[in-house]
Order: sequence, then structure tokens, then C-alpha cells
Amino acid sequence: MIIAVDGPAASGKGTIARALARHYRLPHLDTGLLYRAVAATVLREGLDPTIEADCVAACDFDDALLGDPWLRTDDAGKTASIVSAHPLVRAALLHRQRRFAAQPGGAVLDGRDIGTVIAPDADAKLFVKATPSIRARRRHLELVRSGETVTFDRVLADIRARDERDSGRATAPLAMSPDAAPLDTSFLSIEAAIDRAIAIVEGQRAG
Ligand code: CDP
Repeated sequence: MIIAVDGPAASGKGTIARALARHYRLPHLDTGLLYRAVAATVLREGLDPTIEADCVAACDFDDALLGDPWLRTDDAGKTASIVSAHPLVRAALLHRQRRFAAQPGGAVLDGRDIGTVIAPDADAKLFVKATPSIRARRRHLELVRSGETVTFDRVLADIRARDERDSGRATAPLAMSPDAAPLDTSFLSIEAAIDRAIAIVEGQRAG
């Protein structure tokens, strides 16, 4: 079974995808990490994230980089959102993601374009969302806990800018696949969101 989980920054898609992977005993790929790894490689090699050719040259990173804690920082996320808008970067990372999805038994992938581009034939598709201010509150808490000093207003502005960039780009923009089930986590606890996600997957499997 392939499960596609898409949604904007800090919507809860990562937590839900990990929980679904545990529940169904499937391997999980956080595809945002791939774009974050490209971002890290670009910056470390002194390349320019706004130049497509520079970013393509950074797509051949070693899998070991995916464990680097710097990838989880806000700066990595911001740069990832810039490098991910280049069509040739998306093309370079496509096969890696499709290979992961095609494993025997299936997989859970989370990102922005899993249900629309990477795995359009997925058995279950969720689009996880929450209001910008609630997502900013979650992200702010996460960042403060990880030791970053940043204001709530800054985080909210970044979330809005990221939404705009992710939804406005020409290639594989953040968009809900017509056959995906929306899951609004704004007023749900983590447990309730996970229960809802499992119920959606069960429903889609049965249907
Ligand atoms: O949750 P958050 O947006 O902070 O991080 P992420 O999911 O790791 O994604 C970082 C950036 O990578 C996003 O802003 C997107 O621009 C990009 N991305 C993408 O374009 N396609 C994906 N499948 C996953 C991430």
C-alpha cells in the first residue's frame, strides 16, 4: 500500500505520516529532507540557491547527509523552498522518490506533490492542513525548543512567504489532488489527528 501525505509547512503532515508508517509497518520517506539536503549542499559548496544549474549539481548528495541535524533548521527549510522551485531539481529527485514508493509492500511518503506527481496512483491520499497562525505557533514552539531565537511574528511571516512560494511555483505546486481527503488539524490533538488519518486511509482502502 502506498500512502501519500501532502500539506503545507507545519501542518502536521510529518507527524501523521510517521504515525501511519508505524501503524501499517511501512517504510517512511520525508521528501522535504531531500530538498533540505540539496539546500545544505548548495550552501556548503558556495553555490547559489536561486541558480538552477547550481542546485542541480547539488542533487547528487550522499544519503548519509539525510541524518545531518542542520537539515532540520529553519534556514535549511527556507533555502529548501527556494531550491525546490527549480523544475530540474524536482526532476533530479523524482526517481529517488518513485523508487522508494515502489518498494514491495509499499511505503508512506510525505511532501508537497506526492499525491499529484510522485505517486498519483497511491492507494490512500491525505492533504493535511491547518490555519497559518496555528502552524506558525507550532513551528515557533519547535524552533524555540531546538534553541533557535526567533519571534512568533517572524515565523508567521516566513510561513506565509513559504506557502506563497510553494503554491505559486509553476512546477509541482503545493495543491490538493482531487482524490485526496482533506484533514484539517487546526483544532485536533496529535492523537485525534492520527486517529482521523487512520480512519481516512481505511475508508479509502475499502472504497
Ligand atoms: O514542513 P516544512 O515545510 O517546514 O519542511 P519540509 O516539508 O521539509 O519542506 C521544506 C521545503 O521543501 C518546502 O517549503 C517545499 O518548498 C519543499 N518541498 C517540496 O517542494 N516538495 C516536497 N515533496 C517536499 C518539500
